[in-house]
Amino acid sequence: MAKVVLGVAVGVAVAACAVAALVVGRRVRTRRKWKRVVGVLKELEESCETTVGRLRQVVDAMAVEMHAGLASEGGSKLKMLLTFVDNLPSGFPILGQYSMIVGVPPVCYFGMVFEFLSCCNLAALSVSCSCILPWSEKGTFYGLDLGGTNFRVLRVELGGQRSSFDRDVAQQAIPPRLMTGRSEDLFDFIASSLQHLVEKGNDSEQSPIIKELGFTFSFPVKQTSVSSGILIKWTKGFAITDMVGKEVAGVLQQTLARKGLNMQVAVLVNNTVGTLALGHYHDADTVAAVIIGTGTNACYWERTDAIIKCQGLLTTSGGMVVNMEWGNFWSSHMPRTSYDIELDAESPNPNDQGFEKMISGMYLGDIVRRVILRMSQESDVFGPVFSSLSVPFALGYASMTPLMAAMHEDDSPELTKVARILKDDLKIPDLPLKARKLVVKVCDVVARRAARLAAAGIVGILKKIGRDGSGCIRVGRTRSDTKMRRTVVAIEGSLYTQYTMFREYLHEALHEILGEDIAQHVILKVTEDGSGTGAALLAASHSSKSVDNVQLL
Ligand code: BGC
Repeated sequence: MAKVVLGVAVGVAVAACAVAALVVGRRVRTRRKWKRVVGVLKELEESCETTVGRLRQVVDAMAVEMHAGLASEGGSKLKMLLTFVDNLPSGFPILGQYSMIVGVPPVCYFGMVFEFLSCCNLAALSVSCSCILPWSEKGTFYGLDLGGTNFRVLRVELGGQRSSFDRDVAQQAIPPRLMTGRSEDLFDFIASSLQHLVEKGNDSEQSPIIKELGFTFSFPVKQTSVSSGILIKWTKGFAITDMVGKEVAGVLQQTLARKGLNMQVAVLVNNTVGTLALGHYHDADTVAAVIIGTGTNACYWERTDAIIKCQGLLTTSGGMVVNMEWGNFWSSHMPRTSYDIELDAESPNPNDQGFEKMISGMYLGDIVRRVILRMSQESDVFGPVFSSLSVPFALGYASMTPLMAAMHEDDSPELTKVARILKDDLKIPDLPLKARKLVVKVCDVVARRAARLAAAGIVGILKKIGRDGSGCIRVGRTRSDTKMRRTVVAIEGSLYTQYTMFREYLHEALHEILGEDIAQHVILKVTEDGSGTGAALLAASHSSKSVDNVQLL
């Protein structure tokens, strides 16, 4: 009997030990896996490091590439495209000055662009004209803004007085099928939206007076004049192959004619240029514009003598807006991770738009998705690897970034918003709090790197145009005695305007790179709907009615 009891006791003890060993073993394994998950985050943090020293190297590289892109066609990954916008609308007219230079009646004042365009691949000497906004002008001007995910149509009523205009804006998401289909379908859609706005307003479609239109086309275009240009390539997930190499304004003009719309494309501009125009209209110290939305880009005011690749370019203003297409910028100083490399390889445009892929809304969310996927492969804390995590751009282009922002900015103690997004959108239910905290941290690292790189890009422009404080006049001995000109950068795009943490990181980095004394003179100003409204203002200033008054030099 005693033997039996002993046997049972030993059996129970062995079983207990086995269970304990199992539990301990599982715990050890879980802990090990968790350590690996934390390791993924650590590695990400290290490879996304953006010290001020590193950012300053990016600043220098940006300025160097700008010089190279201005020096020769194809001299840099930065295309530094001419825009033929050689005067910007101003809410504070400086009309007298221009009437003296050009000698035209004071109704409308012109700056003129004379281009020796052998360097710009046009056979003959051509003359195009532009003018600063004739504020005596009244009328209705239209803006069409084809950006990344959305499409806007605007009507701007000019009241004939300084700073007086009213806007009517209609916004629509671009159906994804139109982004990769035929150009005819996309342009039909654009023209129909415009037709709708015209019909909605009091402007009669049948009116014999031709309506002027500013077309904001937010893709790399080689401009041949202020109102025409050839599409170089698509970005932001657009891939309408039959459109590449075509003259964009011409295609729109033909579509408008087909629809019976009595409208004329007066200007064709990049969205950064529209933003700069509106920014400058409100504040004459505005020298550059930056967009950080689905895609990213910048433009700025450049002296014509610095545009070496187009020698002989002459404008009465002595300058011209240059569309940098900075989305394609690249520097070895940029902190690149394995996620960036994979994303690039699986994107619709590999080896292209390197800066854009680290900064803009189309990509940030997908970088976050890739890191969470890696984490879920390291540990079952995320559950099985879900298909929603495995597919690149699973939620559609740019859709993941607003979710990323919402998770990043969830300040509830239990991270309830994070839990809901993971469950509803990424199909990861019941993630424990400690793992949800990790997800927030991933969003933070990715957004912070993007914002700091964008800040470095902005300082790169300031450096190129001598507004970063490095070459400014000192009135005393210390840096704080430095005399700096007030410098305004117009800024637009959902990442900057709607993602608070992103915006704060960008400002923080600007201050770190420039130093407080200089940074206080640099102002980033949001221009609401600037890309479209600015284009309509430019359409007014380049109106064919005005062009009738042009006197060539
Ligand atoms: C385009 C630019 C545009 C930017 C912001 C980029 O992908 O190449 O032309 O300005 O996105 O929309």
